Amino acid sequence: MVKIKGILLAGGTGYRLHPLTKVTNKHLLAVYDEPMIYYPLRTLVSAGIKDIMIISGTGHAGDFVNLLGSGKEFGVKLSYEVQDEPGGIAHALRLAKDFVGDDNCLVILGDNVFDHNIEPVLKKALSQFKAGGMVFLKKVSDANRFGVAELSGDKVISIEEKPDKPKSNYAVTGLYLYDNKVFDIIKTIKRSARDELEISDVNTVYLKQGKLKYHLFEGNWTDAGTVESLYRASTLARDLKLKKSL
Ligand code: G1P
Repeated sequence: MVKIKGILLAGGTGYRLHPLTKVTNKHLLAVYDEPMIYYPLRTLVSAGIKDIMIISGTGHAGDFVNLLGSGKEFGVKLSYEVQDEPGGIAHALRLAKDFVGDDNCLVILGDNVFDHNIEPVLKKALSQFKAGGMVFLKKVSDANRFGVAELSGDKVISIEEKPDKPKSNYAVTGLYLYDNKVFDIIKTIKRSARDELEISDVNTVYLKQGKLKYHLFEGNWTDAGTVESLYRASTLARDLKLKKSL
């Protein structure tokens, strides 16, 4: 069986959270009672992944090592990689090429919080996954803040990054399952208007190749990259922890 490596992306400037992120990294901020990064890390761990790379920017890479160490506390082996300059999610992901090698990878953004319903979803997806890409969608009321997937039956027919007029209410969450062709795909995409290598463009290449699958997640999910969503993430984490579903 092909192995699946985990990649946790924790770079970026966190500019939407200034001044909270002026002297620290977004993913180290509190979400309720724990540093933000604990949540996506536990999502990868719950999927049964043992080998995880954390990619962060230059300023705070050492803080992640201080916080998480070897990964022993989480029962996994952590590796660290540094993105010299922010350049988008796909730009950061390409740094994991050698780490992934011939394996597949489950990628998660460091500001994404999923409840424990994601565990069986991921275990099933990972056990069935052979090749291509897979995105995890969530119905939201503010789709214009996210990558948005347009669906037709069991197919994704388009993905747009933060569209003014979303074609659906299905946000593409920051969780992606890819084969290692993803690194060849990243080489082919161009920087977007916000000067980033967009993960939505990577997903669009898989889509055009007819190799993109999706799962519609029914549990709770939020990002935490804006002041409002960070606040929401804390209240969600509190609610879920009190109900023991996180
Ligand atoms: C990123 C992705 C977007 C995705 C979102 C999920 O947006 O670009 O497609 O829907 O994460 O959290 P960002 O938060 O980096 O602007």
